Amino acid sequence: MGTVVQLKNQINNSYFQLKDLVDEKLVLVEEKIKSKLISDVNLVQEMSNYHIETGGKRLRALLTLGSAKLCGYKKGGRDINLAACVEMIHGATLMHDDVIDVGSLRRGKKTLNSIWGNQSSILVGDYLLSRCFELMVEDGNLEILKLLSSTSSKISQGEILQLQHKGEVDMLEETYFKIITSKTAELFSAATKVGAILSNQKNKEKEALEFYGKNLGLTFQIADDTLDYNSESKIFGKKIGKDFFEGKITLPVILLFQKTSSSDKERLKNIFKQDAKSGDDFKYTLTLIKKYNIIKECYKKAEHFINLGSNSLTVFEDSDEKKVLEDLTSFSLERSF
Ligand code: IPE
Ligand code: IPE
Ligand code: MG
Ligand code: MG
Repeated sequence: MGTVVQLKNQINNSYFQLKDLVDEKLVLVEEKIKSKLISDVNLVQEMSNYHIETGGKRLRALLTLGSAKLCGYKKGGRDINLAACVEMIHGATLMHDDVIDVGSLRRGKKTLNSIWGNQSSILVGDYLLSRCFELMVEDGNLEILKLLSSTSSKISQGEILQLQHKGEVDMLEETYFKIITSKTAELFSAATKVGAILSNQKNKEKEALEFYGKNLGLTFQIADDTLDYNSESKIFGKKIGKDFFEGKITLPVILLFQKTSSSDKERLKNIFKQDAKSGDDFKYTLTLIKKYNIIKECYKKAEHFINLGSNSLTVFEDSDEKKVLEDLTSFSLERSF
């Protein structure tokens, strides 16, 4: 039996510790991505450079490197190539996502679509995906090829499912979890499982890392959705209230709708029905979120996934990697960026 992991008061540094553990390899992942995206079409090169320079947390690449290290992978550079693949799928997804969400700020910088427009952003996103598939084929492992290609199709389906439920303020919590499993948790889960596959681990270890990644991803997306109502743009690197103004239904809204009075329910329904929402609509929603302690409720929900994720690594012997990955589950909720 696993133990219940409490949210700690002290600062959780596990993300930076994981970075330290695989530091040299992460540099090689960056180089791999850069060399793989070389193009003699100027615009593709320019946009790729901008995308690489803005970087991001590189969390999914770190997960592949960390999982491979946990599984004792030492010889060769397959972990580097596959971490690059995972990060490129993520990058492509973000380019497409910013077009769909009309995002203007990412990683503290202007988005590609706000500089170069939607058409080029979609195409460069496709370019990243195609280059990633080349890299996967070079690796040559069918199990990994199958996993990463099906992950990519799940992400698209998750994004489309989300679109279908736009503005539906009474959306089922179950639907929300289906959406975030597909659009986010599947890639986290693939990132960690790949580490086990390339280290030739048995099914038990593969499944443990798959399950770990999935729960980490769910926690991570709940945090992202909560930060959209409870953060500062400067630290988060993205605009606050973006989900609200888009009519994207996320956990804070779902839990608020469950708790609030019937007159507030009516007003929320009307707000989310209309395309153009006002600053006052946002203020009103934020007041209700505060009144009903919704942020705390979201964190409470996420604790379940933190515990599942953290406890799933018991199959591995104790090591620095194991400890850091276990702590990363609560980091992904406590984070402010
Ligand atoms: C953003 O992911 C998309 C979500 C799943 C919420 P990250 O927060 O990992 O993005 P970067 O790569 O660090 O910018
Ligand atoms: C996550 O959803 C994006 C994908 C995983 C495709 P969001 O739309 O919440 O991500 P951000 O907030 O734009 O980074
Ligand atoms: Mg988005
Ligand atoms: Mg978001």
